[in-house]
Amino acid sequence: MRLVSLLAGALALFSCASAFVNPPIYEDLADVDLRRYNDTYYLSTSTMHFSPGAPILRSFDLVNWQYIGHSVPQLAQFGTGYTLPPGQNAYIEGVWASWLIFVPAQNKWFWGGCINFFQTHIFSSAGPDPTSAWTQISVINACYYDSGAFMDDDGTVYVSFKDLGTNTFQ
Ligand SMILES: *[C@@H]1O[C@H](CO)[C@@H](O)[C@H](O)[C@H]1NC(C)=O
Repeated sequence: MRLVSLLAGALALFSCASAFVNPPIYEDLADVDLRRYNDTYYLSTSTMHFSPGAPILRSFDLVNWQYIGHSVPQLAQFGTGYTLPPGQNAYIEGVWASWLIFVPAQNKWFWGGCINFFQTHIFSSAGPDPTSAWTQISVINACYYDSGAFMDDDGTVYVSFKDLGTNTFQ
């Protein structure tokens, strides 16, 4: 009995998965943005026309992941096609390669990405918990395509992206 609990304790201590089956998640989670804060990994991913969008996944070992929320609560605000009125749809539009970052100075999470290939939308969480309510805080009238966020040592956040110029995917 003691040996079993000792063993269980040791396994809990060394919970990094040494062997696992690929893929760790049998789903199409494209364009991941992966962050590590306080020994916890967070992942944001593209979900195109699916609503809610931009799921947030959490892991402690990069193998076992759980869905804990979404950065984009609903997509109807991005255009009429998202609610499937007769003759319209937003198939493969919506949330593409985006970023997720925690900003200590504001004690909040921020998410941003190009929506519909012509606008960039920024959302933020209500507080430091990424599962708190997310709301849109800003819209930029340009597509920051395949963007990524980076925080400098002084706390300044930079976003890099591909400039689509006049090219569109229409
Ligand atoms: C990391 O831990 C610090 C100290 O407890 C906390 O203030 C901060 O909010 C945590 N960061 C995240 C992203 O959870």
